[in-house]
Formats: sequence, structure tokens, C-alpha cells
Amino acid sequence: MKERKKMVVGNWKMNTTISESIDLAVDIKNKIKEIEDIEVVICPPFVSLNSISLNLGGSFLRLGAQNCFWEPEGAYTGEISPKMLQDICHYVILGHSERRQYFGETNIQVGKKVKAALEFDLIPIICLGESKTQRARGQTKKIVLGQLRGALNFLDRGEVGKVVLAYEPIWAVGARNPDEPGEITKVTALIREEIKNNYGKNVVRYVRILYGGSVEPKNVAILTQTGVDGFLIGRASLDAQRFVKIIQVLEDLYVSARN
Ligand code: PGA
Repeated sequence: MKERKKMVVGNWKMNTTISESIDLAVDIKNKIKEIEDIEVVICPPFVSLNSISLNLGGSFLRLGAQNCFWEPEGAYTGEISPKMLQDICHYVILGHSERRQYFGETNIQVGKKVKAALEFDLIPIICLGESKTQRARGQTKKIVLGQLRGALNFLDRGEVGKVVLAYEPIWAVGARNPDEPGEITKVTALIREEIKNNYGKNVVRYVRILYGGSVEPKNVAILTQTGVDGFLIGRASLDAQRFVKIIQVLEDLYVSARN
């Protein structure tokens, strides 16, 4: 297994037609030069994945899907399986708060999807996060660790070491401002502690934890002080200039920290 390489993931959600998505992917690819320290992943809608993968040949940009089902095939009208994605994607976002909220995804279902994704060599990017009311009631730990346990429920230690987690407090997604850096630091530390206690320190050191929720070029530098391994980005990833600016800010920070 590899060390924790920093990571920036763009979640395009239900945006862009096929031709718009190809243009955006190619624009991002052309704007990013010589990037060493950061793994960059874009997650376009399902219908665009194949065309984009053909247009990105030889590029360092990696592709991710935004969801998948847990069965490899069968009578599941409208679903997309990890088996269908394995040839075009490296990653798959699972358990995003919008899927939990609008499509009723449960912790157990997310766990089944996570297991299935890994069986087809897709790395799951698992989203965790509490609502504003839950935060106000002091339930952050209970909710986030409950989601974490559900997501990792069917995995062995080796598999746990491969997953990527994204802490996204629900009210910060699609909002004006990200969560407070101090809060992000606390919650990501809780997540690390839980994985260490359940799977050991040799597993937790491989698990990347991202932050997501209103990340923009102007706030990303301060958010790195939370100790996260990268960012999951919605709106700003739909604008090549903003997305690439975020990556450049991070690259500059990481390079100067290394030197
Ligand atoms: P946002 O979305 O960057 O638009 O807040 C983040 C996400 O949903 O992952």
C-alpha cells in the first residue's frame, strides 16, 4: 500500500451534458501542469464517464463515479454496478449526504456499496457528516462514527486501509462558508482515533481523510491547517479556473512545506 498522497476530488453532481463535460475535463487537463504532490480526481455524471476517459488518455487526471449499486449485475432497473465502472474509474463517491437525504441511503446500504466497490478494484470515497441540528445537540460523534461503522462494516483490515473518507458537515455543502477549521480538526481526529482503535495504527496511517463543503480558492489554504489529506469539491469543480486555482494553492503549500 502507498503512503497518503494528497488528493483533490471534483464532484460535478448532476451537472454538464456529455459535450460540456468533455470540454470541462479537457480544460482542466490542459490547465494543470507538472503536478506531483496531489492526486486529482474528477467525478462527472455516469453518462459522460466513457467519453471523458477516451479524451483523457495518458493524462494524470483520474476518474471517479458519483455512486454505484452493490450487486454486480441483474434485474435492478436504472442502477449502475461497480463491475460496469471498473474499467473506466479508479474511484467512486459513496454515501454523499445528497444521496442519504434525497434517496434514503442508509449506513448499511453504504456499507454494502463500499464492499462491492472494493471487490471490483474501485476505491470508495465515503462521505460522512452530521446535520446542523445534530451538531447543535452535541450528536456529531455519534452520527459520524455511526456512519463510519456502517460504511466499514463488511471490510477486513486490508480493505479498510484502502478507503478514502470525506468529512462533509451537511450545512456546509453548497453553502457560503466552510465549517470552522477547529471543528474539522476535532471531527477528523475522532475518525482517525476510531479507525486506530478498531483496525490498528498500521491501517489508519493509510486512510486518507478529506474535507468537503464550500471549499474555494480563497479558503483552501486555511483549511489545510486542519490536517486533512485533501478536499472534495462541488461547485468550484465545475469551473476549470477555480478548480485549478485550488490545486495550485495546495501544490504551492505542499512544495514549500517539503523544501
Ligand atoms: P460544495 O459541495 O463544494 O458545492 O459545497 C461539496 C460536496 O458536495 O462534495
